[in-house]
Amino acid sequence: MIKAFVKEQIFHLQTNNTSYIIKVLPSKHLGNLYYGKKLDFDIDYQNLELKHKLEVGSQVAYSNEDKTFTLNTAFLEMPTFGKGDFREPMCHFRLNDGSRITDFLYQSHQILENKPKFQEMPEAFGDKINTLEIKLYDQASSLEVILYYSCFEDQDIITRRIVINNKSQNPVIVEKALSMSLDINNEDYSLTSFDGAWIKERQINQQKINPGIIKIDSKKGVSSADHNPFFVLSNKYCNELQGKCYGFSLIYSGNFEAIVERNPYNQIRIQMGINSFDFYWELMPDKSFITPEVVLTFSDQGYNRLSQNLHNLIKNNIINPDFKNINRPVLFNNWEATMFDFNQRKLLKLAKKAKKLGIELFVLDDGWFGQRNDDTSSLGDWFVNRKKLPLGIVKLAEKINKLDMKFGIWVEPEMINFDSELYKNHPDWVISHPKHKPSLGRNQLVLDLAKAEVVDYLDEVLTNLFSSANIEYCKWDMNRNISDLYSDSLSPKDQGKLGHLYVLGLYQLLSRLTRKFPKILFESCASGGNRFDLGMLYYMPQIWTSDNTDAFSRYFIQYGTYFGYPQSVVGAHVSDIPSMQVIRKTPLETRFNLSAFGLLGYELDISLLTPFERKVIKKQIEFYKAHQQLFQFGKLYRLASPYQENEMHLVVVSEDKTEAILGIFQNFEQPNAEFSKILLPMLDITKKYRIIKREQYFSLDMFGHLVKHALPIKLNAKALLFHLLRNRYLFKTETEDKIVEGDILVHNGFIPKQKFMGTGYNEQVRLMGDFGSRIYYIREVYENEKN
Ligand code: GLA
Repeated sequence: MIKAFVKEQIFHLQTNNTSYIIKVLPSKHLGNLYYGKKLDFDIDYQNLELKHKLEVGSQVAYSNEDKTFTLNTAFLEMPTFGKGDFREPMCHFRLNDGSRITDFLYQSHQILENKPKFQEMPEAFGDKINTLEIKLYDQASSLEVILYYSCFEDQDIITRRIVINNKSQNPVIVEKALSMSLDINNEDYSLTSFDGAWIKERQINQQKINPGIIKIDSKKGVSSADHNPFFVLSNKYCNELQGKCYGFSLIYSGNFEAIVERNPYNQIRIQMGINSFDFYWELMPDKSFITPEVVLTFSDQGYNRLSQNLHNLIKNNIINPDFKNINRPVLFNNWEATMFDFNQRKLLKLAKKAKKLGIELFVLDDGWFGQRNDDTSSLGDWFVNRKKLPLGIVKLAEKINKLDMKFGIWVEPEMINFDSELYKNHPDWVISHPKHKPSLGRNQLVLDLAKAEVVDYLDEVLTNLFSSANIEYCKWDMNRNISDLYSDSLSPKDQGKLGHLYVLGLYQLLSRLTRKFPKILFESCASGGNRFDLGMLYYMPQIWTSDNTDAFSRYFIQYGTYFGYPQSVVGAHVSDIPSMQVIRKTPLETRFNLSAFGLLGYELDISLLTPFERKVIKKQIEFYKAHQQLFQFGKLYRLASPYQENEMHLVVVSEDKTEAILGIFQNFEQPNAEFSKILLPMLDITKKYRIIKREQYFSLDMFGHLVKHALPIKLNAKALLFHLLRNRYLFKTETEDKIVEGDILVHNGFIPKQKFMGTGYNEQVRLMGDFGSRIYYIREVYENEKN
């Protein structure tokens, strides 16, 4: 709800648990009074005001009329440069006369019942999302800035964006146009960003905010794996379950910047938006520039609550509503199984095996088109390779459908190889500069999506592909960052627009295709997680999280990813060992257990599975399907963090708390292990729960020559019989099935069986091993179980 106190010129935006309060300052600048835990509407707002009562030493007083007021320490909602605020401006302009001074003052406001929709850009949507619109105006330049604040009450989210209107007779260069700026008092906050690179995306990185400026950004043309366009500020008391924290996430897929500045007065300025580096936008008279939307949230119940706010927003207000709470199929992807080396026979063999395992969707990855046998050619030629698939995609899809599986396909439409028909026909469609030999990434170049004809062409060619066969899923890849940034379609003074125009072109294309093919489930991918952001999620309801499918690396990747994104968007596949990315061996059960806290897939040569693996995988998929809604859409809690402890604990719980699933993931086996007790604060103290361990198996490899201590038979681990048995024998792990009161689970915790102590193995022992894991299904007891 939004209330405007017109006389006091105060605007109070309230969500269920938070308040955001804005005030027009006496100077007419737009100030911020407060952002945090919900405050009553009926308060004395003066008590929130900073005291600007003393003459300012070594500062610029904004006006001679009040020598005590300087912009440099005011909490401002739209700071610019030139009138004494020497912190980072939110917007920066180069005016027709060469000056850069702007001074935006309050002009008017209105409260809109609904959120306005602008040009084709991703955004948070919803019915009756009250929006505050505030107009600011700079007299000298005749520039108008409209600020929009939308209140997603149930999610405890405020979204912000601005629109800049040039009301002058002259063009203006916009050099910086961020989506938000917020000033708060420092309470010893730390900044957490989610940093990384290929195969190590979204690693948690926390740093203290010292005086100065911290900036995370992307100049890569995509939001990038280096820094996710999402960050958190938290005070020193904050942990997963308690403490104050703020989250900021940008709904944008291109170059971005996030700035945290601490000034000498222990005030913190927080900003986010399109990267001002290499951005300049000539705004002609009567034209507007619209910034992407940024999402703000606050929690005083720790990081989990902050994440859940964002998860709710993504599930309800970002992803395509057609896919809201719709179970995502368990998929098989042939990439790590075959790479480029496949034909129809091989694919169908895999598909039959997949069907037998219980898989629901067969995804044909890279290599099905043009002359593509490796990554040096054919991107751009989106017609089938008849040598590999003589009967075409249509027939392949038909045959897969006949097996009662859905069919999906991989594309990388934004890219082109020199060695392609498309390049022969349209060398001018590539982002490059005539005087530079273009630098390649994965042997490929990027198409110039700033050109309408390129977007039209891709629209046409993909429309043909998607309507040519029964394609129900599409993995949309993007495997390089953008260099050689130059477009011959833009005038010299418009080249600074290219990065943003590329993103707008992409959004245009995605909007057209997703509208034309509403039934296709799109999964975004960019060498894994190089473009993992809310912008892509608006068009594609899930993302391939990382090319790293090693389960242990995935502990860290998924734990970090869950901070900003729900498990219902996190693609997670079981692959073979040793892992292609780190040559590590992790247990098959852990590879599943972790993937189950996401969108489960299998990406390994399932035609080579041992009988042991086949049986185990079948049981895994059965279990996942039995709890698909809960795994994919349950409320997610992170408990123990693998970054800080030897174990990671994850829980998904149903809204009504009648069922939950706990996952325990161990880093390394410890000698003489500690006792475990796991608090489950998300459960209901008034209920009684039954906790059942998922049936899991070891292969005999777990024991090797020690097997005689675990089984009542003698086996020579080097002999053939052992080898035969290890591929067949399902060695059961301990069982666990008990009834425990909710208040015990909440207040004292769940006590699983004792861990292996090095003193023998039997049914009472929980042997985890390196990278071992367990899953427990927890549900309210049925009436007849109660005594
Ligand atoms: C990227 C993707 C992979 C796979 C390959 C195919 O690396 O992230 O999953 O699709 O491309 O070339």
